[in-house]
Amino acid sequence: MERIGIIGVGEIGRAIVAGLCDGVEEPPEVYLSPRGAHAAAELSQRYPSVQVCADNQDVVNHSEVVILAVRPVGHSEALAGLRIGSDRIVVSVIAGVSIGELRQTLGTDAPLVRAIPLPAARERRSVTVTHPSHPAVEALFDRLGEALPVADEADFSVFSTLTGTLTAHYWYLATLTDWAARQGIPSEDADRYVRSLFQGVGRALGDGTRSLHQLAGDHETPNGSNERLRTTWFDTANSEALVKALDALLTHLK
Ligand SMILES: NC(=O)c1ccc[n+]([C@@H]2O[C@H](COP(=O)([O-])OP(=O)(O)OC[C@H]3O[C@@H](n4cnc5c(N)ncnc54)[C@H](OP(=O)(O)O)[C@@H]3O)[C@@H](O)[C@H]2O)c1
Repeated sequence: MERIGIIGVGEIGRAIVAGLCDGVEEPPEVYLSPRGAHAAAELSQRYPSVQVCADNQDVVNHSEVVILAVRPVGHSEALAGLRIGSDRIVVSVIAGVSIGELRQTLGTDAPLVRAIPLPAARERRSVTVTHPSHPAVEALFDRLGEALPVADEADFSVFSTLTGTLTAHYWYLATLTDWAARQGIPSEDADRYVRSLFQGVGRALGDGTRSLHQLAGDHETPNGSNERLRTTWFDTANSEALVKALDALLTHLK
């Protein structure tokens, strides 16, 4: 697919454009919606194969694949009225909007595929969950890392729920840093140290031969500090609270 349109050029739309075009010898033609004019203009200046369209319909008219990347709230107002022929392929990255709902909003017979690209699409390192399976869409997300098609929309929602855990992780790290600063450690030192600790975790996660429990075990001395904190803080109640929050998010996303 060499003509790709993007409606909604925000954080994830920009990451997709960069992943498709940055340093790529023969990038696809990319057609962007005009809203968020500054970002769209900047991308079209940076990459010669990127153009900003007059309006959202113009994006659809130019593209073989149309990626919908507007925010969930207000998405139906943003998309209603678009005319999408059945020869197009529509990829929605809008969280929590089902295929059925989308088909009703768009009123098209075109294939509709949901996807969860990650910001790492920018570096072509996104494992992108897709549903339903569609070879052209999988080929598109393989370019941005790797496509992970799932057979069932309920399974798709489980992955969608997992993506909702990211910022809680950053807040966990920020809480550690703030705690150290309250103990009198200069904030910059606490920040640098916590980042360094968890960059090590990131690297260790790259080793797919070790399970997550094995990796935890690698860092845990029996009766040591890590075991102590894990069992006194990440205890049954805390673990159950997390599972409850995940269940509630899954229900919401379904
Ligand atoms: N960020 C992620 O990591 C991520 C990952 C996977 C999926 N998603 C999904 O991707 C979607 C976008 O997320 P985001 O983080 O990229 O949001 P964002 O940064 O807020 O971007 C949304 C963009 O859509 C534009 N927009 C709003 N109404 C529009 C319209 N009628 N026509 C064309 N463009 C319109 C907005 O312009 P204005 O700023 O002018 O309103 C903004 O540029 C969401 O549905 C989200 O669930 C995000």
